Amino acid sequence: MSARPPRSPTPVPFPATHQNIRHDSAPLHVAGTARYVDDMPEPPGLLHVALGQSAKAHARILSIDLSAVRAYPGVVAVVTSADIPGVNDVGPVVADDPIFAETLVEYVGQSLFAVAAETRIAARAAARLAKITYEELPAIITIADARAADSHVLPPKRVERGDPLGTLATAPYRLTGHLAMGGQDHFYLEGQISMAIPGEDGDMHILCSTQHPSEVQHLVARALGRPDNHVVVEVRRMGGGFGGKETQASLFAAAASLVADRTGRPAKLRLDRDDDMVMTGKRHDFEVAYDVGFDADGRILALDLTLESRCGMSTDLSGAINDRAVFHADNCYFLPNIRITSYRYKTHTVSNTAFRGFGGPQGMLAIEGVVDDIAHHLGRDPLAVRRANLYGGPGRDLTPYGMKVEDFIADSLLDRLESSSAYQARRTAIAAFNAASPVLKRGIACTPVKFGISFTTSFLNQAGALIQVYTDGSVLLNHGGTEMGQGLYTKVAQVVADVFGIGLDRVRITATRTDKVPNTSATAASAGADLNGMASFNAARTIRDRLSTFIAGRWGVEPSALSFAHGKVTAGEHAIRFDDLVRQAYLARISLSATGFYATPKIDVDKETLIGRPFYYFAYGAAVSEVVIDTLTGETKLLAVDILHDCGSSLNPVLDRGQVEGAYVQGMGWLILEELVFDAAGRLCTHAPSTYKIPGCGDIPDHFKVDLVTQPNREETIHRSKAVGEPPFMLAISAYHAIKAAVAAAGGSGPVTLDAPATPERVLMAVRARQSGTGV
Ligand code: MTE
Ligand code: MOS
Repeated sequence: MSARPPRSPTPVPFPATHQNIRHDSAPLHVAGTARYVDDMPEPPGLLHVALGQSAKAHARILSIDLSAVRAYPGVVAVVTSADIPGVNDVGPVVADDPIFAETLVEYVGQSLFAVAAETRIAARAAARLAKITYEELPAIITIADARAADSHVLPPKRVERGDPLGTLATAPYRLTGHLAMGGQDHFYLEGQISMAIPGEDGDMHILCSTQHPSEVQHLVARALGRPDNHVVVEVRRMGGGFGGKETQASLFAAAASLVADRTGRPAKLRLDRDDDMVMTGKRHDFEVAYDVGFDADGRILALDLTLESRCGMSTDLSGAINDRAVFHADNCYFLPNIRITSYRYKTHTVSNTAFRGFGGPQGMLAIEGVVDDIAHHLGRDPLAVRRANLYGGPGRDLTPYGMKVEDFIADSLLDRLESSSAYQARRTAIAAFNAASPVLKRGIACTPVKFGISFTTSFLNQAGALIQVYTDGSVLLNHGGTEMGQGLYTKVAQVVADVFGIGLDRVRITATRTDKVPNTSATAASAGADLNGMASFNAARTIRDRLSTFIAGRWGVEPSALSFAHGKVTAGEHAIRFDDLVRQAYLARISLSATGFYATPKIDVDKETLIGRPFYYFAYGAAVSEVVIDTLTGETKLLAVDILHDCGSSLNPVLDRGQVEGAYVQGMGWLILEELVFDAAGRLCTHAPSTYKIPGCGDIPDHFKVDLVTQPNREETIHRSKAVGEPPFMLAISAYHAIKAAVAAAGGSGPVTLDAPATPERVLMAVRARQSGTGV
């Protein structure tokens, strides 16, 4: 590892905003010099921590004998619930996530104690030597188990409008159906990790791979029994988070900190892949049931939709995630008479958590399934039925939760994509191919996306920033957002460079730290750039205003006459280099640092009824996917993908394109490849890449065309951009429906029942069911 990667002499474009600027860490990633927590030089005396895990899904702990653990060579300390000075909990919303189980275990892999040793191997080996006796209790593993046992983490919620049941009874057509969709492991390249370094007088400094440094700070402080101002959490970057580090880093940060606090030595806890998959929550799997009434065009008149989710053993973010599923169960479609009921089941499995889309994909897959089934029932082009149901104009612009859709562009995206992808011509060609091909069948599908931007928990929509300008004119930027590969740091730096009119190379991006910007929200809900971009813009404007007042006074001009551009400040014939201005301002005793703050306007939603305006705006997209399936093996191959995605006035088109491509591929993994299997005892059988298949390069189609729509956001976001992190994930719903279309071409008629993920087994079963006319 070379100490310093060569800086490439890429010209710095000005203004930086809206330009294709590479990710600030790209050269370091390529050179292998980007530091993740495990790359940090290890402090002297570092201890390595491993966790003892429950072997049972639901059991009373009768005894724990840790003598063999303590006696293992190299072991320095063992920490159990009895050793926690503060609160034994890291629940982010509800206090139901013990750090170490006391008398009850509720999932296989639940943490029981921490062991600290001189080496990681010793800690891991010692952790396995605990002798635990359990009294097993009946375990609720599946959604069906939870439904039967009436087991919930939170009470059900319902959104209802019009007369769904009455209209269903009189609708010209009526169809019922069901759909199960699996969960998804985050499979971030960097697993969960924390290194806790004890300071003087009870201080703790934690390097942590988390999307939510402030929450980790708060929960660790609470566990240590200290005020928040003793704990600093620092995150330079994550090797991916995808929602999996929104709440679930806290357990590991707490365990490392408890060890560090007790021993006075630094302590690091890094999970290996298997432990990470077993011990951390995943995307919620859902079961969906529907009863829909519609007319001969497939236009929905009434819908009664039930969403059931497996939340796992604790509440975590399941409330907000299931709310978001409800908020996306309309997708782009006007549902005049609608009842949506959402069940949040408690099971004895790991607590499920945020994952890109945060319930949105599940709600959207549900309604897309309904619309697709209607189309197959009527024997019509699914795209025509989708069109017939789109939001549009007065009388058809109100969501089930009462928010008016004012910025709808899905109709025009579908029009553009239908022609640019040659959808109709390809449909005809596919029909001809299928007629001549007995074994291989092709399918194509086009689906739209409408995704609401803002945390539905309204108070989270706030952000802060701290900007420092040094006397050489260089700028240090800090804000509450975290970098997980999405390019947030680069985007925010672009915004700040432009406020000062300086090159991006003059703005230094620094690690997110709770002692620089306090009380931040998680970097989540795709709102990172919206929130932190605006807070940083405000901080930079504060400093620029001070500089303007100062230099305008010297020059005897109005501050509004000044221009900050190309590293200079000018007004008429006056000009000064930005660095010189800063130095003069310093000598004139003008403050060169400022904080900035931003809170999203206009949003307001009732958290019980879910009625209101949860979102500031919507981001839109549309995709056409084409697949081929082998009706003898159930294998599928994605042949071609065409995407049109709405980024508003993109802050950085090349980064946004990366987000769209990555999100589509990750969504395709969820719906086609990645299968989580728990056995009857609640053990996760798919806990390594050997048994859990994420997309690889070979799964990306040869034709993968992404076009960005860059029309300005109608709302006043930072430079009129739109959030992009999650919305394109749901473009992959088109791939799943393309498989359904191919299955339909294998024979039979009517809706295709195919649960997700559409693995070869499921595709084969769906094909066989249609060919034998049994239905699934
Ligand atoms: N992109 C990369 N490369 N790595 C990630 O972990 N997380 C996604 C998305 N894109 C993620 C990513 C998720 S779940 C969210 S909410 C957003 O990025 C968060 O970042 P943003 O708010 O800055 O878009
Ligand atoms: Mo993303 S699931 O909101 O971290």
